Amino acid sequence: MDDKERIAGILNGYRGEIMAKCPKSLAIWHKNRSVMPAGVGSVFRLSDPFPMVIQRARGARIWDADDNEYLDCMLGFSVMILGNSPEEVEAAIREAMPRGTHYGQCHEHEYEFARLFCDMVPGVDKVTFCNSGTEATMYALRLARATTGRPLVAKFEGGYHGAHDLLAVSYGRPRPGLDLSGAIDDPAAIPESHGLAEGAWQGTIVLPFNHPAAFDKILRHADRLAAVIIEPAQGAAGAIPADRDFLAELRRITHQIGAFLIFDEVITGFRLAPGGAQEFYGIIPEVSAFGKVAGGGLPFGAVGGTADAMRLMEYDLEPERSILMAGTFNGNPMVTAAGMAVLNRLSSDPGLYARLNAMGDRFWVEINQFAQEGNYPAIATGVGSMFAMHTLPGPVKSVRDLRAGNGAASAGLRLLFRKNGLHITPSHGFMSTAHTDEDITRLIEIYKAAMKELRTQAIW
Ligand SMILES: Cc1ncc(COP(=O)(O)O)c(C=O)c1O
Repeated sequence: MDDKERIAGILNGYRGEIMAKCPKSLAIWHKNRSVMPAGVGSVFRLSDPFPMVIQRARGARIWDADDNEYLDCMLGFSVMILGNSPEEVEAAIREAMPRGTHYGQCHEHEYEFARLFCDMVPGVDKVTFCNSGTEATMYALRLARATTGRPLVAKFEGGYHGAHDLLAVSYGRPRPGLDLSGAIDDPAAIPESHGLAEGAWQGTIVLPFNHPAAFDKILRHADRLAAVIIEPAQGAAGAIPADRDFLAELRRITHQIGAFLIFDEVITGFRLAPGGAQEFYGIIPEVSAFGKVAGGGLPFGAVGGTADAMRLMEYDLEPERSILMAGTFNGNPMVTAAGMAVLNRLSSDPGLYARLNAMGDRFWVEINQFAQEGNYPAIATGVGSMFAMHTLPGPVKSVRDLRAGNGAASAGLRLLFRKNGLHITPSHGFMSTAHTDEDITRLIEIYKAAMKELRTQAIW
C-alpha cells in the first residue's frame, strides 16, 4: 500500500464515522436527490462526505436531522451575526406578519430600514433593496456601466461576488487542483461555470489581489473600464483581507481613471464595523453591494452608494439614462422587519464590534502560536470576526498562495471538524454575538485536536 492509499484509507475511516452518526440525514438527502439535482439548492452545500441536513438552529449551536449538535461557525454563510434564531428578529417578524407577508409595493418601513443603511454606512446616501448578494453586485456593475458609458469591469482573482455571468470568473473556490492560470501578476479569466452568456465574462478583467501589478492592468484598460469590484476582505477565497495600502491605492487609481470603485460588502457589511469595510478601512467607494447580515436571516440584497452614483436609479428624473432594476420581492416587508431588528441591535450596542472582533483576534493568535510551537505548516488568516486556517506556513496574501497547501491535510481537517462537532464552511468561518468565550475555547480546541490527529496519522 503506498502512502496515498494509506491516507485515503484514514480519510475514508473519518467519512465512515460521520455517516454512521447520520443515518437520518443521509436518508433525507437521498430522498431530496430523487427530486432535486444533487439534492442541494446551492452547489456550496455539497460537502464531504455528504451535505449537512439541518433540523434546527439556536444561538451558537446547530443540530442535524440526527440530532447531533454542532458549534456553528458557518452561521448560514455569515448571515446570523446575532447567532441563530435571535429573539428580537423573531419578534419583529411575528409583529409584522399580520399586516401581510408580501405586497410588491412601497411601504412605510422601507424608509426606516433604508435610513439605517444611510446612517450607519459612510458611503451610502441612498440604497435600494433586492433579494440576494448576487443581484446586488449585478446591479452595481450595471449602474457603473450606465454611468460611465464604458463596457468593461474588473474583479480580483479569488473574489466571489455571486453566481451571475459577469462575475462567475476566477473565484478559485477551494477544490482539487485549484484552477487558476496566467502569470501571478496577470491572471487569466477562468469561467467558473459552463453555459455562461457569450461575451459576458469575457468583458471581465481579472486582477491580482494584494499585488501592485493590479494597478498597471487597470491603467492598461483605463478608457474602457466602468468599475473595479472588490471584496475588501475576500471571504470564500479563505478569509484574506486586502492590505490597507492596497485598498487606498485602488481608491486613488479608480478616481484617477474615472471608474467606479465597488465594494462588495455582502460579507463585510455590518460585520467588520457598523459601517462595514468602508468604515473599517476608511475608504469610501462609489457604490456597495450588501446582503447576508442585513437581511436578518431572510433572503436579501441591497445596492447603496453616494447620491451621484445612484443617480441612474432615479427613474423619473433620468428617464433617458436610467438602468433597469426591478424585482417582485424587493423590499419585502418580512425582510425589512427582520433586517431592521438586526441593524437596530448592531447600531445600538457600542461594545458589540469590539467583542466580536476580539474573538477573531483570539483565534488567530492562539492558532498561530500553536502552529509555530508545534511546527505545523499552518497559518490562520482573517479580519474581524471572519477567520480561516490554511495548511501552509504562510504568508497568505491571495488565493494563489493557497496552492502551496496540503490537500490531504485540508480534507482531513474538514472531516475531523464535522466528526467532532464543528459546523463551518470549507474555506472560512464566522463568529456571532451568541458565541461565548467558552465557545471560542472549544473552537480552538477542535482545531488543535484535529491538527494533532493528522500529525499522529502522519498525514500532515
Ligand atoms: C462577498 C460575496 N458577494 C456576493 C455573494 C453572493 O450573495 P448571495 O449568495 O446572497 O447571492 C456572496 C455569497 O456568499 C459573497 O460572499
